[in-house]
Amino acid sequence: MSTNSLLSILVCLLLYGFFTKITTAFSIKEATTDDLQLAFQQKHLTSRQLVQFYLKEIRRLNPLLRGFIEVNPDSLYLAHKADQERKANAQGSLHTLHGIPILLRDNIATKDKLNTTTGSFALLGSVVPRDAGVVVRLRKAGAIILGKASMSEWAAFRSTFYLVVSVEEKNPYVLSAGPCGSSSGSGISVAANMVAVSLGTETDGYILCPSSVNSIVGIKPTVGLTSRSGVVPISPRQDTVGPMCRTVRDAVYVLDAIVGFDHYDDATRAAVKFISEAGYKQFLKPNGLKGKRLGMEKTKEYGQDLFEAAESLKGADKLLKLVVANLNKLSRNGLEELVRKHKLDALVTPYDLRRSSDISTLLAIGGYPGITVPAGYDNVGVPFGICFGGLKGIEPKLI
Ligand SMILES: *[C@@H]1O[C@H](CO)[C@@H](O)[C@H](O)[C@H]1NC(C)=O
Repeated sequence: MSTNSLLSILVCLLLYGFFTKITTAFSIKEATTDDLQLAFQQKHLTSRQLVQFYLKEIRRLNPLLRGFIEVNPDSLYLAHKADQERKANAQGSLHTLHGIPILLRDNIATKDKLNTTTGSFALLGSVVPRDAGVVVRLRKAGAIILGKASMSEWAAFRSTFYLVVSVEEKNPYVLSAGPCGSSSGSGISVAANMVAVSLGTETDGYILCPSSVNSIVGIKPTVGLTSRSGVVPISPRQDTVGPMCRTVRDAVYVLDAIVGFDHYDDATRAAVKFISEAGYKQFLKPNGLKGKRLGMEKTKEYGQDLFEAAESLKGADKLLKLVVANLNKLSRNGLEELVRKHKLDALVTPYDLRRSSDISTLLAIGGYPGITVPAGYDNVGVPFGICFGGLKGIEPKLI
């Protein structure tokens, strides 16, 4: 063998080692949006490859976990488009969500090939007039709508009468534990790495609970911070759309993309004053908890019975007004007074399946924000979170 061929073999071996090192150093599984963006920039990954990876994982895992009910047939095309835009340095191609696949809870309307069913056969094939407000913003940010997530039918607020599109979702940590409703598919799919990030919606606990039991991060924004236009409604004074992701940072990127005024949703006008103008990313601080006063809720002063009464009285105008006034009073005299009196930065509580309704109801009736982050696992391995909540517009502090 000549020196030349020996040399070329050596070079090949070296190069081989070099490249395998690079490719194995990056794994899509558990990657954050920052990891993915870096891989895009360094040309180790394209959006198309990323979508292909997720489609493979969905085919492999979804028959068991059932987090997705529909996959966007255009997702590969959209990924290809994102790759072209990045190549051309097109405007917006450096946005944190550009080329990143996102999963939407199925009550969020998309004007594309996907159905918007709220988990019910009753709405299968229905045609929505336009994208939901938050979807308009996500598309503008360059995110790829990968599919629709399974959910409790009609968010479990109608039930029994309709046939259900999404059935038997499973908790990826402990299959028998249940994923918690009703943004269950979003929680499952993010936890099992079938998608990068997701959106859920909350009326009472629907973001916080499934995030908590699937060991991910959920942010339930102040009501009106994110538009509910194009989102099948349950309670206008409580409904809110928020991110469900694997890290706080990812959730904040998604929140940054979806907050803002939408003339189709009046509540967003009133909440504009709560929005952090320079975005929420600036509040991500590793030692943000230092020196903060946290309150732990012990008693139920807040009127779950009235909340339930209010929900059952839709349409009974006079009574409803009375109940709503009462709820407002309870919020003012309850959480608001508590936070002011004790000069609290936030309220904190462990959040597991048994206690799921405690803090979320408190936050729900006042339209207050909350965030849950993974805290551990119970004795059979079911994850639970720790939930921080506070008054309207307190997102910067919660983050
Ligand atoms: C939407 O629903 C129709 C049935 O009405 C179905 O044929 C179609 O495949 C669904 N779309 C997607 C993207 O799954």
